[in-house]
Amino acid sequence: MVTGGCGFIGSNIVQRLVNEGYKIIVLDDLSSGKKEYINDCLVEKKCEFIEGSITDATLLAKIMPKIDLVIHEAAKPDVRASKKNLFRDFNTNVTGTLHILQAMAQNQVQKIVFASSGGTVYGETEKTPTPENEPFAPISHYGASKAACEQYLSSFSSLYNIEVISLRLGNIYGLPSNHGVMYDFFWKLEKNPSTMEILGDGNQIKSYLYVDDCVDAHMCALQKTLKGHTAFNIASIEGASVNEVAREVVEAMNLSNVEFTYTGGKRGWAGDVRKAVVDISKANKLLSWKPKVSLKEGVKSYISWLETEQNK
Ligand SMILES: NC(=O)c1ccc[n+]([C@@H]2O[C@H](COP(=O)([O-])OP(=O)(O)OC[C@H]3O[C@@H](n4cnc5c(N)ncnc54)[C@H](O)[C@@H]3O)[C@@H](O)[C@H]2O)c1
Repeated sequence: MVTGGCGFIGSNIVQRLVNEGYKIIVLDDLSSGKKEYINDCLVEKKCEFIEGSITDATLLAKIMPKIDLVIHEAAKPDVRASKKNLFRDFNTNVTGTLHILQAMAQNQVQKIVFASSGGTVYGETEKTPTPENEPFAPISHYGASKAACEQYLSSFSSLYNIEVISLRLGNIYGLPSNHGVMYDFFWKLEKNPSTMEILGDGNQIKSYLYVDDCVDAHMCALQKTLKGHTAFNIASIEGASVNEVAREVVEAMNLSNVEFTYTGGKRGWAGDVRKAVVDISKANKLLSWKPKVSLKEGVKSYISWLETEQNK
């Protein structure tokens, strides 16, 4: 089962699983995802789609007996909005995860791969690149919700012998994403190709990762057997500043002489981690995973997709 399989990352995972011959059930409440993202798989009846929520225990009790393993992507992923939507996001991200884990335990489902967040669970640590054993110190409610999920994943793993792999993802970008910094820059530049406002001072540094590399990491996690709960940072090797990303987007759109203006301050918004660069050597060693797509290539292909989409 892929939860959130109609979302940005989830739909890419579903497509890959179908290509590799897995039989899958997608559970998504379509609150932000779109069924059309997995249309090809549905038309060819290569996966089953169930519209519903991960917070619906009755529904999960019906689905779970058919499941061998879970890839859990469903969440409210907006860091900025998590300050305002505290209880709504807790309900989906944490309570929803608990319902999944409980249904797994009741049906002896033995493995879950969880989409955690390397950009938020560690908070403003001094230690960069940050290794997985750095303590959690989130500065956003979103980060706190992901950290809470990992703690429960750990307890369920121990109590019910469930194999858990938490993938602490960096900033994932690519098609068909309709959120994130590159998406925002693209639309700002479409409206005004001479000036663009950047949130913060532009020096925030993040580990951007192209979605194909993120899907590769999920496939490696799926195929690897590890006992207990194991967490991996999944991100680019080096971080890039928001200014660098802005320059790449400008180049990919074939623009020049764009003036950047800044809202100022060290963060883009409350809860924005100023420097989120993680150490990915553990994933390289134990999952034999490493990113293949450079920021330049990735931005180019994402921007070219956005250009095609808007001309449809
Ligand atoms: N995109 C990133 O940069 C990034 C970084 C770190 C972690 N993550 C995590 O990866 C996962 C996927 O993120 P994304 O960017 O694809 O987000 P997304 O919003 O595109 O996808 C989330 C999906 O979950 C579904 N969903 C939401 N609430 C649900 C519920 N109660 N029941 C069933 N489905 C529900 C949505 O409809 C959507 O299809 C999330 O868990 C997110 O927290 C994303």
